[in-house]
Amino acid sequence: MAGFQVAIDGPAGSGKSTISKLIADRLKMTHIDTGAMYRAVTLIAIERQIDLNDESQYLFLESIRISYHDDHIYVDNRNVEEEIRTKEVTKNVSLVSSFPYVRRKMVELQKMAAEAGDVVMDGRDIGTVVMPNAQVKVFLTAKVEERAKRRHREKLEKGHDVNLEKIVEELVTRDIKDSTRKESPLKKADDAIEIDTTHLTIDQTVEKIIGLIRSAKGEL
Ligand code: CDP
Repeated sequence: MAGFQVAIDGPAGSGKSTISKLIADRLKMTHIDTGAMYRAVTLIAIERQIDLNDESQYLFLESIRISYHDDHIYVDNRNVEEEIRTKEVTKNVSLVSSFPYVRRKMVELQKMAAEAGDVVMDGRDIGTVVMPNAQVKVFLTAKVEERAKRRHREKLEKGHDVNLEKIVEELVTRDIKDSTRKESPLKKADDAIEIDTTHLTIDQTVEKIIGLIRSAKGEL
């Protein structure tokens, strides 16, 4: 039987991964960042120089193993955590994740992970497709300017030279692609609770969600 499931969805830069990880650490649950999985597929597709627009070329997914554990993403035994955050991967990931074949393969892995214990999973279609029976579903949002500022700060801290306007543009483009694609678009599940984090700190958001989890468990 599945354990306790928390689904966290939302647009790019809404803080899903940071917040999911903190919640999982606090409550001793497993965190799975599904965006990292789509990014890993994109990285390998670029490295193999396939035609990214041709869905039939993604059959390489039959012969590699993508896994997410201890907050790192692996392709076979290679840790690709750094490489999946490059500009080139970010630019192409929405295209790659729009293919039904790619999604089917990743959703299969994610559903298996969801059955393995208590999980906090973050992505775009977790509450709608991957864990439709999750006990807690959250849809995180924030104004695009605020999301861009956060991403900008993150990049600067890592020593990358980035332009805020460019980040706004990238986020808007990705949001449009992610929410208008045919196959499981970014969408709030009917039973998800929306939290606008524009004026909330990370800690405040974490506390709010932990409150929702405690009350779903009957602890409040
Ligand atoms: O962290 P960031 O908000 O930049 O994005 P991400 O969570 O790493 O996801 C990267 C991309 O993967 C998204 O823009 C979507 O195109 C895709 N994705 C998806 O289609 N379905 C998911 N469950 C997670 C990510």
